[in-house]
Amino acid sequence: MKTFYIETFGCQMNVHDSEKVVGTLIAQGYRQVPKPEEADLVLYNTCSIRDKAEQKVFSRLQQFKREAGKGKTFAVLGCVAQQEGERIFERAPHVSLVCGSASYTRLPEMLVQLEAGARRVTGLDRDTQETFETPFTRRDNPHRAYITIIEGCDKSCAYCVVPFTRGRERSRASDSIMEEARRLADEGYTEIQLLGQNVNSYRDPSSRGWDFATLLARVAEVEGIRRVRFTTSHPRDFVKEIVDAIDANPVLANHVHLPVQSGSTRVLERMQRQYTREEYLERIAWLKASPRNVAITTDIIVGFPGETEEDFEQTLSLLDEVQYDAIFSFKYSPRPNTPALALDGQVPEEEKGRRLMVLQEKQRGIQLRLHEQLVGTTQEVLVEGYNRATGQWIGRTAENRVVNFTLEGSNGHSVIGQYMHVHVTRAGPNSLAGYGV
Ligand code: 5AD
Ligand code: SF4
Repeated sequence: MKTFYIETFGCQMNVHDSEKVVGTLIAQGYRQVPKPEEADLVLYNTCSIRDKAEQKVFSRLQQFKREAGKGKTFAVLGCVAQQEGERIFERAPHVSLVCGSASYTRLPEMLVQLEAGARRVTGLDRDTQETFETPFTRRDNPHRAYITIIEGCDKSCAYCVVPFTRGRERSRASDSIMEEARRLADEGYTEIQLLGQNVNSYRDPSSRGWDFATLLARVAEVEGIRRVRFTTSHPRDFVKEIVDAIDANPVLANHVHLPVQSGSTRVLERMQRQYTREEYLERIAWLKASPRNVAITTDIIVGFPGETEEDFEQTLSLLDEVQYDAIFSFKYSPRPNTPALALDGQVPEEEKGRRLMVLQEKQRGIQLRLHEQLVGTTQEVLVEGYNRATGQWIGRTAENRVVNFTLEGSNGHSVIGQYMHVHVTRAGPNSLAGYGV
């Protein structure tokens, strides 16, 4: 039997794509192995959001260069595949398959070509209307499942490669999404995460014509599902109806990830984000007005071309104003094809590093204060794992906070996958700690 190994880089979209690729390969008669050394087919599902992510795949490919002659086949999937295309064959001549995410429906036929001895196969078409729907998805987590609802991105943020790597926006039919959600509930999954580069612009292509808020409400009604999350949102398309849906059904997790990128309207405009600081704050105000105490997280880029000290300070003041539950922050990284390459005012690497540190330090303080307010409360968590070293279980609240906790009488009995209540006794910037009650 043929064997394969897959390693995934990048976002949840990529993680879920890999689950579908694994399912597809297994349906084609392949068996998954845990080490590249053992595999006939080695696949890297790659990310090119920042240069560092892109370099990773090339260093991996260098590592195993000599194995290619021994009958091992190498495949590059995902965003670097789409971005670099056939140039990958020049940089790594031992690669045989290069395939972007918009061509994954063609993977079975490409594998057949490889098996028939084809030396080089590519799938690089981006102008596809296809979504990567497969009945064979092999999920990694037995309790929490991803469901793709929309693929691609039609925005044109000046820094971002995604429109070039994942193609045009295409929504999946709502009956297909609902069917998958029901099937997952039947299989015992209790948490669903709806995925897309911009879930807010979901528009049901079927005659039902559901918008995103309607879809959310319907998925939350599926019996057996206890938590529904969604990612990622674009502030411009984030409408009040989404908050109303969260208010109306506690199954919708009280957590929204709303990437802001910068607190300065001037920088936002240069980024082509299509909203101002004030418009963004209006959406935050809807979330803050919710009786459900919605956790808010964000993404921030520092050192975008032309970002002045004053612009950066506006990002810092935005953190004070919003009081995010968590942020993901990055130094701007110039990406091929993107409009930001043409902008002047590149910020020196060192200065980007300084801004990133200042930002993260500030956020650390905010998170610590927010978490300290939770000491003494009881939180419901979905148990995700066990830490042998500390003897603590690891759970996650609906707000997406990590809670480490002890559990008397569990005697090594696994409680993973269960919902439990935890009394919080300690708070750190990145997690809470307590005991199960
Ligand atoms: N440089 C740095 N960060 C970027 N992101 C996207 N493109 C870039 C880039 N060129 C960040 C954004 C986005 C997150 C997924 O990655 O903050 O929301
Ligand atoms: Fe990376 Fe963006 Fe591609 Fe996800 S969509 S893998 S974050 S480049």
